[in-house]
Amino acid sequence: MWAKSRSFNAAIAAFVDTTGHERSLDVGIGAGDLEDFMNMADVTGVDLSANMLRRCLKRHPAYKLCIGDAENLPFNDESFDFVFCRNLLQNFDYPQKAFGEMYRVLMVGGKLAVIESAVCEHERQYVTDIVRVIEPDHPLFPSHEQLRGLFEDIGVHRVEQSIESLHGSWLSDFCESKKVSQEQRGEIISICRNLPEWYSTKYEMSVDSASDRIDSTLTFSFIRGIK
Ligand SMILES: C[S@@+](CC[C@H](N)C(=O)[O-])C[C@H]1O[C@@H](n2cnc3c(N)ncnc32)[C@H](O)[C@@H]1O
Repeated sequence: MWAKSRSFNAAIAAFVDTTGHERSLDVGIGAGDLEDFMNMADVTGVDLSANMLRRCLKRHPAYKLCIGDAENLPFNDESFDFVFCRNLLQNFDYPQKAFGEMYRVLMVGGKLAVIESAVCEHERQYVTDIVRVIEPDHPLFPSHEQLRGLFEDIGVHRVEQSIESLHGSWLSDFCESKKVSQEQRGEIISICRNLPEWYSTKYEMSVDSASDRIDSTLTFSFIRGIK
């Protein structure tokens, strides 16, 4: 739901602020949902999943797409002017390696951007508990502090971070899109009902008692900087 949201994608495009002339790399491009909104001409996409790349190619026939691992990118150093990813880094226990690869293939003076759903450092376990009902080995959910730290530790200049939020029934959609069992769905609803009050208030989380529909606010870190 959120990945296709017009206003959300427009906000990302405004944040990354590309000129349209960069040699761009999207790491973990998926089906290329975000690209419809971006001002980009020369786009390379890499993803582990051949299936996602097939879908992406149908939508963006001019893109250069290749199967590859974010932790070992199949490109030479300093090959791109703009390197970015959206909701990729949450796949790693230690995102430093994938982020280091993004930095390696970026030109000096080029722009690096990460868009990732994240929470504050002390809240990571709550979201992780929900995600792990479906994916038991899912890494600890990212935090805004951790993501900013990636940029600062590697020496990215002019780092800017914006925390954005999106309210909706994304958690219910998530349950349905993954075709979760009734038991898993029940477990997620139970976790949501038992979250600390401060957390439910902060993330405007409610579980409708009749339909079990879960509404909540998803928060994202938008981070950009210059190599
Ligand atoms: C949540 S999807 C996001 C897709 C796209 N970036 C978007 O925002 O619409 C994560 C994508 O990362 C890809 N992915 C996961 N681990 C990866 C890795 N180690 N290397 C490259 N791609 C990876 C998945 O196949 C998937 O397409």
